[in-house]
Amino acid sequence: MTALPHLFAPITLRNLTIRNRILSTGHDTTLPTAFVPNDALVAYHRARAAGGAGLIVMQVAGVHETARYTAHLLMATSDDCIPGYARVAGAVHEHGCALFAQLFHPGREIMESQDGTAPVAYAPSAVPNERFHVMPRAMPAAMIAEVIAGYAAAAHRLERAGLDGVEVVASHGYLPAQFLNPRVNLRSDAWGGDDVARRRFLDQVLAAIRAATGPDFVVGLRISGDEKDADGLSAEEVMATLVAFDGRFDYYNVTAGTSAGIGSAINIAPPMAVAHGHLAPLSASIRARVTTPVFVAGRINQPQDAERILASGAADMVGMTRALICDPDMPAKAREGRLDDIRACIACNQACIGHFHMGYPISCIQHPETGRELTYGTPAPTPAPRRILIAGGGPAGMKAAAMAAARGHHAILCEAGRQLGGQALLAQMLPTRAEFGGIITNLAREMTLAGVEVRTSTRVTRDLITSIAPDAVVIATGAGPRAPQIEGAQTGHVVNPWQVLRNEVNVGGSVLIADWSLDWIGMGLAEKLARAGCRVRLAVDGYMAGQRIHQYVRDLWIGTLHDLGVEVIPYARLYGIDGQTVYCQHATSGAPMLFDDVDTLITSLGHHSICDLDDTVADLGLECHVIGDALTPRTAEEAVFEGLKVGAVI
Ligand SMILES: Cc1cc2nc3c(=O)[nH]c(=O)nc-3n(C[C@H](O)[C@H](O)[C@H](O)COP(=O)(O)O)c2cc1C
Ligand code: SF4
Repeated sequence: MTALPHLFAPITLRNLTIRNRILSTGHDTTLPTAFVPNDALVAYHRARAAGGAGLIVMQVAGVHETARYTAHLLMATSDDCIPGYARVAGAVHEHGCALFAQLFHPGREIMESQDGTAPVAYAPSAVPNERFHVMPRAMPAAMIAEVIAGYAAAAHRLERAGLDGVEVVASHGYLPAQFLNPRVNLRSDAWGGDDVARRRFLDQVLAAIRAATGPDFVVGLRISGDEKDADGLSAEEVMATLVAFDGRFDYYNVTAGTSAGIGSAINIAPPMAVAHGHLAPLSASIRARVTTPVFVAGRINQPQDAERILASGAADMVGMTRALICDPDMPAKAREGRLDDIRACIACNQACIGHFHMGYPISCIQHPETGRELTYGTPAPTPAPRRILIAGGGPAGMKAAAMAAARGHHAILCEAGRQLGGQALLAQMLPTRAEFGGIITNLAREMTLAGVEVRTSTRVTRDLITSIAPDAVVIATGAGPRAPQIEGAQTGHVVNPWQVLRNEVNVGGSVLIADWSLDWIGMGLAEKLARAGCRVRLAVDGYMAGQRIHQYVRDLWIGTLHDLGVEVIPYARLYGIDGQTVYCQHATSGAPMLFDDVDTLITSLGHHSICDLDDTVADLGLECHVIGDALTPRTAEEAVFEGLKVGAVI
């Protein structure tokens, strides 16, 4: 008997029995290159099916030419899509997993253009959105009919491709939700007006799909149970719709938020500051009112949490999307009771949805094999095991060691400090970032499973290298805080973020953070010190605080800083300090910007590489690889990826 009985209980929708309750909800992967599924996408989903997921809902497929909301989505508007979908279905079914796909029209939520020119966005009415600044054109009635027919034709194609079902995307403020919303749908024809008229679009989409597909084909609905936006659908409005449609869809897949609002979009992939399973109460309230099975997602990253949500009756199935992006084998590990082996997602959003918003293929900072299954899917055992010395126990070194050892090498990792983790040890000390420390736990576990020999409190020196006598050395010694000459530094109190986080310095009551990095550090310190009662000014050498991190993480944090009274000053390039006056220069006009009454200036000015072993290794005539921040300072994502790359070839 498994310890997770609810999670591994099968569920039946129509005539489809799904082996467990673990669901990968629809998510854009940016893997498709020509609007149809390709080899990379097949390999991506095969990995998750092989890892034991019960159901995969594939990313959105456009149902009409006007549905192209990014330059790299899937389209199901012609039979050209069928072979690619059939290959995904074959790969997923081969491993006993069910496969649905999302049917999609964004309405006004056009995020990206195809060629640099803004397309005409079509929505129920000409009501603009906040986030993408799109003013749509009201859909002519003839186009509404075309789009409905497009949903049906797309569903029929996906059924022919061998998929088990489709999911109508009415979540996140996309087209069906726009029709439902009285503040977005201002029509006075048959498609707008009272509740019945505003539900007509969804009603006809469902009827058309049912008419075009067979009786066993599953048709679900993804919906935001609460769009959490002043202009969005309220929980009460959504509930009324779900009650009205009860029994007609085969399941409701509950999420939250709308793409239309800067703040509410954060709910689409909630960052680590948001509680685990935060939408379970919302799905529970819906499940209590309908007979339709209810699924829920949102920060459910561990099987124990999923089990609790299912056992409490809050949902019939759990979306564990980033959990599967981070660890495709999570279901199999859970089923086998290997809970400590699971690489839990830390909701950093950096390489999954962060890549999506930059137009790059999906990956994961902890598991860079994701999205690169064709290259790194299966580590090739080495034909000639060697002794590999890895200098540095941060994320780069840990991944390199784990990968090298997994391939059969004798990997010896030496870390000068007492603890593994490198800069992740500091990153986890920032407010709401404690979960970042999970990257250390997870990589340490990977090393243990692979059989890496770990030596902490061991600095790599020439003598040590000679005594270990490795065949190759990987230098992953990381970086330290950059401390450029600042004019007048000796006249004031100037400290760096590491000193503050390690409590090595006292910080005055009035602080200015000069932030060139534009990442987590400036915002995190600002929150920490504001909460400690300091007056905090965050002078950013850029357009906005957190400019270089994923928008949901940044936007949530900017709201917190606003509420805490932190003053954010954009375009401020640090110039110097004179006693308690900090001088900046406006980054474009060059005009002086003076900040008085500064007790402490914190310089978040990036890092410098620590790499003083390469000459020694070269001198000893050994093969040498430099990775991560030791190569040049960046983030944990590049560090882990470079660890993977070197571990895969060494
Ligand atoms: C890279 C990425 C892309 C996403 N794209 C979509 C999408 O196309 N359609 C959708 O309904 N949800 C999308 N989502 C939201 C996920 O389906 C899911 O609701 C979200 O990740 C929260 O669940 P989780 O905490 O288990 O990851 C996306 C999420 C990620 C991480
Ligand atoms: S990149 Fe971060 S949020 Fe995305 S799956 Fe990996 S750990 Fe989770």
